[in-house]
Amino acid sequence: MIAASQKKSEEILSRRKQVVPNAIGIFNPGTAVSASGSLITDADGREMIDFAGGIGVVNAGHCPPPVVEAIARQAARMIHCSFNVATYELYLQLAEKLASLLPHGDHTKVMLTNSGAESVENAIKIARQATGRQAIICFEGAFHGRTMMAMTLTSKVGYKLGCGPFAPEVYRLPFPDYYRQGNGLNLDEFSDIHIRELEEFFHAYVPAEEVAAILMEPVQGEGGFNVVPKRYLQQLRQVCDKHGILLILDEVQSGFGRTGKWAAYEHYDVIPDISTWAKSMGSGMPTGAVIGKAHIMDACKPSTIGGTYPGNPVCCAASLATLQYMEEININALGERIGDIVRQRFNQFKSRHEAIGDVRGLGAMMAFELVKNKDPFQPDGDSCKRLISYCAAHGLIVINAGIHGNIIRILSPLVIGDQLLHKGLDILEKGLESVLK
Ligand SMILES: Cc1ncc(COP(=O)(O)O)c(C=O)c1O
Repeated sequence: MIAASQKKSEEILSRRKQVVPNAIGIFNPGTAVSASGSLITDADGREMIDFAGGIGVVNAGHCPPPVVEAIARQAARMIHCSFNVATYELYLQLAEKLASLLPHGDHTKVMLTNSGAESVENAIKIARQATGRQAIICFEGAFHGRTMMAMTLTSKVGYKLGCGPFAPEVYRLPFPDYYRQGNGLNLDEFSDIHIRELEEFFHAYVPAEEVAAILMEPVQGEGGFNVVPKRYLQQLRQVCDKHGILLILDEVQSGFGRTGKWAAYEHYDVIPDISTWAKSMGSGMPTGAVIGKAHIMDACKPSTIGGTYPGNPVCCAASLATLQYMEEININALGERIGDIVRQRFNQFKSRHEAIGDVRGLGAMMAFELVKNKDPFQPDGDSCKRLISYCAAHGLIVINAGIHGNIIRILSPLVIGDQLLHKGLDILEKGLESVLK
């Protein structure tokens, strides 16, 4: 699998240094020329197993044939005219499909966007207009994107250095992080305490009647696959209802089969007022969506939401084909099955390495966390970095997460076969033995 020479990859990476700003992150030291299913071929012809999935974008695999065909067919017919200028059916078909898969109450409306960050930006604009309130509450460890409002809502300081001032009227709550703060409580008691703290927050920081929305990822993505406890999210829904606050759930990373369901929130029996989407919706085409209750979505004043490209016909065709393909292959069952395999293997790793402090996730959104001295508060980002390099040298692309970069997360395509999945997990296992010895 490993080619002797990595000359071309090295040359590409050094050209990158010359012409691309250093600040654009390098999560993995590889290159890519082509990709198919769960494999990426690099510039030197090496086939790499992909556990990063383009950061959660290719749940349906790299270049699924029906999606490739739909893109080519639509590109030949109409690439762009702008939905503001002329109404085309593809936008409606995609909106109808999303509303039927992910209903938000009796009547659901959908606006399309170009990215996750843009979905979040628009969700906030919609929530503010619908409530006539300004404050937004978000969480520690959250990641919502890199546009100005999305960056404000993002927690990781390292992603924001020197970029302020940030948007006003954004308040941050501690995330109910059971691994770090559980302190021997059971999960329900722990959740109750966090909900009580939220009610206190309304007295100490911002009155509930001034809060437009609470924004949360049901499973934090960049934050390290922290899963919101079920009771917490259910009670959060009730708190929002009590105070007329909108609940926005960000499903950009957790959506479309990743957790074994279309939406991670389906695990919670909770329906948000608004939700945000992108990534695997378009198999790599830049597209996203805001889905919401119709009366909330319709509270916006004309032209306060939209743009030149959102709902681009080629992206719509790719998304429609992706969703249809996902239904055909039963993506949710695949997510569940892959999650079971990965969780079992990760738990085996944990039983052998005390440096693995936690194994967690929902469905196939699985991660393990490396710490020193068995202490959740001593993150081991260096070992994580070395593990990623080991894997890269041995044919596996994997990326980290967490504000300290000490968490290995799996976002492999969900179409990955058992053999390739285990082969990738074997590399990870040998990497742990090598790095932690
Ligand atoms: C939960 C979540 N929201 C929003 C975003 C931003 O999406 P994008 O990079 O498409 O702007 C991300 C990206 O990783 C994400 O994980």
